[in-house]
Amino acid sequence: MCLFQDLSQYSIAILGAGKIGTAIIKAITGNVKQVIATGRRDETLSRAEELGALALRDNSRAASLADIIIISVKPYHLPRIIKEINGYANGKIVISVVAGVKRDTIARRLPESRVFRAMPNINTVIRMSTTAIVSGDYDAADMAIVESLFRLMGSVYWVPEEWIDTWTGLVGSGPAYLAEIIDGLVLGAVSMGLPRDVVYKAVLDTIKATAELLSRIDRHPAVVRDEVTTPAGTTIHGLKVLESRGIKAALMDIVEASSKRGRELGEEIDRMVDNALRDL
Ligand SMILES: NC(=O)c1ccc[n+]([C@@H]2O[C@H](COP(=O)([O-])OP(=O)(O)OC[C@H]3O[C@@H](n4cnc5c(N)ncnc54)[C@H](OP(=O)(O)O)[C@@H]3O)[C@@H](O)[C@H]2O)c1
Repeated sequence: MCLFQDLSQYSIAILGAGKIGTAIIKAITGNVKQVIATGRRDETLSRAEELGALALRDNSRAASLADIIIISVKPYHLPRIIKEINGYANGKIVISVVAGVKRDTIARRLPESRVFRAMPNINTVIRMSTTAIVSGDYDAADMAIVESLFRLMGSVYWVPEEWIDTWTGLVGSGPAYLAEIIDGLVLGAVSMGLPRDVVYKAVLDTIKATAELLSRIDRHPAVVRDEVTTPAGTTIHGLKVLESRGIKAALMDIVEASSKRGRELGEEIDRMVDNALRDL
C-alpha cells in the first residue's frame, strides 16, 4: 500500500457515466479538482450534471480538459473511445475499468499515455469496492495517484493481470453468490416461522460481524467455526448438513466456473477490441 496522495489538484474525466461511472463520480466528487463525465443520452448527461460533474458528449474535449482519464464504457464502445481520445491523452494517466480488455491492448494504441487497468466491483456504490489494479512496471508516483483514486471507492489490491479472470469470478461475481447464501439462510428461518424482515436484518448483521471478527483475529476461519461448535450442539448438526451437501466443493466449483467463463469472455472481448483497433 502506498502513501495517500492528495488528489485535489487533478481533474478526472469519466468516459461513459453509466452504472460504474456514476458510482465512481459519487465516490471521488469533493476529493478531486473537477469531475468531467461523458455519455451520449440526455439522461446520462443530466444525471452526471446533477452530481456536480461537467457533463459533455465530446470525449476528445473531456480527455483534453482532464489530467486523469477513466474509461468506463462497455467493451464494444471502447474502440471508438480510444480513437476519439487518441492525441488528447498524451502524457496523461488513462485507467480502463472495461472488463475483458487487456492493459496492453489499450496501451499499444495510446503509447504516449500511462495506461492502467483496474477492476472495481459493484460495491463501489457504497465506497466499499474491492478493486484489483493490474500491476506493472509503473512510476511510483503514478501508482500512488491511481491507488489513492481507487481507495476513495474502497480497498485496493495490485495483482498480476493473469489473476484478473479469477478475481472477476470471485470478487466481481462474489456479491451475487453471497446474496444467494444470505437469501437461503433467511428462507430457512422463514420456514421455521420467523418474520422475513426481521430475520433479513439479523442475517446481514451476522454476516457483517463475522467478516469483521475474521478480519480482526486474522486467523483461519475454522478458528471461529470451532469456537461456536459445542459437542452435540446446534452448530455441529448444521455443519453436518453442509458437509453432506458438499457446500465447500460447490463454492470452489462456482469460483472455478466463473473464472473459466471470465477467461473465455475476456479472450473474446480482447480479440474483438484488438481487431477493431487494427488501423490505429
Ligand atoms: N457495473 C459494474 O459493477 C462494473 C464493475 C467493473 C467494471 N465494469 C465495466 O465498466 C464498463 C461499464 O459498465 P456499466 O455497468 O457501467 O455499463 P453501463 O451502465 O451501460 O455504462 C456505460 C456508459 O457508457 C456510455 N457510453 C457509451 N458509448 C459512449 C460514447 N461513445 N461516449 C461516451 N459515453 C458512452 C453510456 O452512455 P449512454 O447511455 O448515454 O449511451 C453508458 O452510460 C464495462 O466495460 C464493465 O465491464 C462494470
